[in-house]
Amino acid sequence: MTNENLKNEDLKYIFHPCTQMKDHERLPLIPIKKGYGVYLEDFDGNKYIDAISSWWVNTLGHGNKFINDKIKAQLDTLEHVLLAGFTHEPAIKLAKKLVELTPDGLNKVFFADNGSSGIEVALKMAFHYYANLGEKREYFVSLSGSYHGETIGALSVSDMGLYKDVYNPILIKTLRAKSPKNQTIKEANDALEDMEKLLQNNKNNIISVIVEPLVQCAGNMNMYHKSYLYGLEKLCKKYDVLLIADEVAVGFGRTGKLFACEEAEITPDFMVLSKGLTAGYLPLSVVMLSDKIYDVFYCPYDINGVKSFLHSHSYTGNPLSVTASLAGIEFLEKENILSKNKETIAFIKEQSKRLENLKFVSNIRQQGMIFAFDIVGFKSEDRVGLKFYEYALKCGVLLRPLGNVVYFMPPYVIKKDEIIQVFDCIVGGILELK
Ligand SMILES: Cc1ncc(COP(=O)(O)O)c(C=O)c1O
Repeated sequence: MTNENLKNEDLKYIFHPCTQMKDHERLPLIPIKKGYGVYLEDFDGNKYIDAISSWWVNTLGHGNKFINDKIKAQLDTLEHVLLAGFTHEPAIKLAKKLVELTPDGLNKVFFADNGSSGIEVALKMAFHYYANLGEKREYFVSLSGSYHGETIGALSVSDMGLYKDVYNPILIKTLRAKSPKNQTIKEANDALEDMEKLLQNNKNNIISVIVEPLVQCAGNMNMYHKSYLYGLEKLCKKYDVLLIADEVAVGFGRTGKLFACEEAEITPDFMVLSKGLTAGYLPLSVVMLSDKIYDVFYCPYDINGVKSFLHSHSYTGNPLSVTASLAGIEFLEKENILSKNKETIAFIKEQSKRLENLKFVSNIRQQGMIFAFDIVGFKSEDRVGLKFYEYALKCGVLLRPLGNVVYFMPPYVIKKDEIIQVFDCIVGGILELK
């Protein structure tokens, strides 16, 4: 099929995610034929650098041969089996590896199959934990500007009006605390003060605090200081509230260390992982949890099932996804990717200096392999992000700004000349703005 045929057929049948479909009357869809390294290639042979890692999932490049081969081998052995009553070797190996890699104390793994479903598991399990202890608690707490996914529970603890307001009547009870608005210690302290007031005023009625460690990605790539996490862990302990770390977007090396929680040396009660968990290959998520949580569910089955965590997804722990994850982790380790990333991170920082004195650019920031800045001086109806997206495509770069926030979150295998190409494009895009 040609590019044109595919576009027409697509629009006849597919309702795309997070898309105002009518925009496609003007905005062309881009059918992709293949992917390799940081590149996506369409049916006309146009190449695009995937500068946003296909919604932040791809860490080790498209078409990574090492991962491909492992998945192919698994395909010939076992494609899927239910994980209740049955188990399989890749799931056991991955669970053991994740327990070794994640912060000390996270000793059990609950499998799910995407980021939002992982968040649902953590929220439900946190609520159920207190119920099993005979306590009735009402509220979850999340931060302003947070994003945890699109299912009802995950949306309830998110703070994204655009995605959520219409559903408010059917969402669950959540209180909102101030998020630290920049990477200073002062902002971290102010936000901790706000959180303490909220926990104090709702003593014994909060189930858990959920947080995106270090970077609120969908929340305009808001980055904050690690001291906030350190202080938050202390507050959760002080007020006997569970802490959920949503590392769906930042886990697996995005922020510099393998996990963002490591930066602050904290151990949450739950850590949710997805996206980079399979290096961007296949859907999978896990909820890592402590023995304290697990032990409350470890009891005889009671007749009403009240104490059992009877939650499941059909594709939970799918062997192909789990194999992709094991292969990704093996690749990260054998290729020393995190240590090589240090050089890439420094090179991105160096390139970002090119934006420092440009008109319309503000709030340049970086945390590890995530770089972002704001475009200022435009109204939201100007849809400046959309214009930037279209400009970048013409330069052969896939950038997908969040409103007026342009960010760069590439696969870790990006090379220096490719980073330069992305920054050439960003600078060009800014100079085009009027
Ligand atoms: C921090 C965070 N949590 C949860 C999710 C939801 O993950 P999924 O899109 O796989 O449902 C996302 C998705 O972007 C996310 O960034």
